[in-house]
Amino acid sequence: MAFVEILLVLAIIGLLLLQWSTSTFRAFEKRNIYFEKPYPFVGNMAASAMQKASFQKQTSEFYNRTRHHKLVGLFNLRTPMIQINDPQLIREICVKAFDHFPNHQPLNIPNERLVSHMLNVMRDQHWKNMRSVLTPVFTAAKMRKMFTLMNESFAECLEHLRSSQPIALGENAFELDMKVLCNKLSNDVIATTAFGLKVNSFVDPGNEFHTIGRTLVFSRGMPFLKFMVCLLAPNVFNFFKLTIFDSAKVDYFVRLVVDAMQYREKHHITRPDMIQLLLEAKKESEDNWTDDEIVAQCFIFFFAAFENNSNLICTTTYELLHNPDIQERLYEEVKETQEALKGAPLNYDAVQKMTYMDMVVSESLRKWTLSAAADRLCSKDYTLTDDEGTKLFEFKAGDNISIPISGLHWDERFFPQPRRFDPERFSGRRKGDLIPYTYLPFGVGPRSCIGNRYALMQAKGMLYNLMLNYKIEASPKTTKDLWESARGFNIIPSTGFWMQLVLRE
Ligand code: HEM
Ligand SMILES: *[C@@H]1O[C@H](CO)[C@@H](O)[C@H](O)[C@H]1NC(C)=O
Ligand SMILES: *[C@@H]1O[C@H](CO)[C@@H](O)[C@H](O)[C@H]1NC(C)=O
Ligand SMILES: *[C@@H]1O[C@H](CO)[C@@H](O)[C@H](O)[C@H]1NC(C)=O
Ligand SMILES: *[C@@H]1O[C@H](CO)[C@@H](O)[C@H](O)[C@H]1NC(C)=O
Ligand SMILES: *[C@@H]1O[C@H](CO)[C@@H](O)[C@H](O)[C@H]1NC(C)=O
Repeated sequence: MAFVEILLVLAIIGLLLLQWSTSTFRAFEKRNIYFEKPYPFVGNMAASAMQKASFQKQTSEFYNRTRHHKLVGLFNLRTPMIQINDPQLIREICVKAFDHFPNHQPLNIPNERLVSHMLNVMRDQHWKNMRSVLTPVFTAAKMRKMFTLMNESFAECLEHLRSSQPIALGENAFELDMKVLCNKLSNDVIATTAFGLKVNSFVDPGNEFHTIGRTLVFSRGMPFLKFMVCLLAPNVFNFFKLTIFDSAKVDYFVRLVVDAMQYREKHHITRPDMIQLLLEAKKESEDNWTDDEIVAQCFIFFFAAFENNSNLICTTTYELLHNPDIQERLYEEVKETQEALKGAPLNYDAVQKMTYMDMVVSESLRKWTLSAAADRLCSKDYTLTDDEGTKLFEFKAGDNISIPISGLHWDERFFPQPRRFDPERFSGRRKGDLIPYTYLPFGVGPRSCIGNRYALMQAKGMLYNLMLNYKIEASPKTTKDLWESARGFNIIPSTGFWMQLVLRE
């Protein structure tokens, strides 16, 4: 008897869950828009949700199947989104009609300290004010100074490679997981440029900043699981007052920044890092920013910079080992740059002058799109029309919008032979042929990435140092097909980014 009752209760719970998981699936029926049949819980994201494909591959394939529709309905798990497949319409929504689409998709986590104050989460006027505080922080002039902090970490990384060749494969060759190396570098660079703290994770991998910082990277481990629960069921999440991050760990970073700011003001210390720049920006701003609001901007580095910056170096080196001729040409440029410096340390302007480096990194960002998609939220109703004035779609306030960046980047109409790694697409001669709004590694419009200069400078600076000293080759453990083996939001093979470094004479 009891057994039957338990079965019955389970069946009812199952049915309710199923009904809840599909309750949003009628969203497009009356809206005159094409969509593909969604599945319970996963919507149109079955492949990436079941860990069968990366988010990039999923986005790219969905786009590929639906690209003959300018607009298509997409179920991102349970959330209905309107995906814009047409470059001109992307411009229309993200640039021309920005006033109607000024925010990112909401993150419903009110209990999370700092997160709601991060620039990418802020909304409307509040966002506008903070964005104008931060814009001067990321200018070329400021990056030029910040580079002198980064170069110390590059040097420490190289010193580590020289002194502790992990798995020797030959006299001057060794194998390493580039991802592990770049994570340490990312950590140290963030510590010094954002938090004003000098750490060396190569010599001291257990340093406090690194151990605590690791738990705040939300794209893996516990934070990722919690984040998924929060995306699927924000009400449950908030009802139990769950938080994605451990509050003691968040406190550690708040204290780090607040203490550093007070110490510097008191002792008149200047250092060309985020803390300094935020202190100056705060003084010049008319708004009365709280400590949390300021600290949150340093916190962004864990969300936006940590993984992305390290992945960019990994995917680029992965392409270089598969394309020895491109690597050789890059080496020539790096060598010329070094000679032109006449013994002086690498600086921001020398990095900017490396045109082939820029082509290589740009192509890497195209082929291995780090952010598979960007999102927007409609805040005021908007009627989208085509050039002839024919009505295409009526956006309603609250609609979520998706821009399929990795779909566009792999569309052969915009990038012929998209699977080919071809830096020449970005040469001075051919750059003009790029179709506007098809190449969006850092997003588009006023809401696009604010840290792109920082990211490029770090990746290029590190690549310069690597190229100068080592030749990168495949090793037995190198992933054969990155596109097929990557999982989740990152372009990372589950086994790691193994490659072989050969010392240059
Ligand atoms: C290779 C590295 C990076 C890539 C590929 C990347 C990519 C992106 C993309 C695609 C967006 C969304 C843009 C849109 O919706 O149109 C974005 C936004 C953003 N990124 Fe990055 N990013 C990178 C590094 C960084 C770094 C180093 C920072 C450092 C502060 C940063 C800070 C931000 C912020 C604050 C936003 C939100 C901007 C806003 O809402 O106003 N990103 N990024
Ligand atoms: C898009 O679809 C076409 C035809 O099915 C296929 O040949 C092509 O490889 C696909 N591209 C991507 C990026 O999946
Ligand atoms: C980093 O750059 C600064 C300023 O150019 C220079 O003084 C310092 O020696 C450099 N450090 C290394 C390790 O190259
Ligand atoms: C800014 O806020 C602080 C704390 O809330 C308050 O003490 C101070 O008077 C405010 N300053 C201005 C100029 O509003
Ligand atoms: C890369 O940056 C984007 C934009 O800030 C962010 O949404 C995404 O989560 C980052 N990727 C990773 C793996 O951290
Ligand atoms: C847009 O996305 C948010 C967060 O994922 C969700 O709460 C909201 O219901 C979505 N809007 C619509 C109209 O589906």
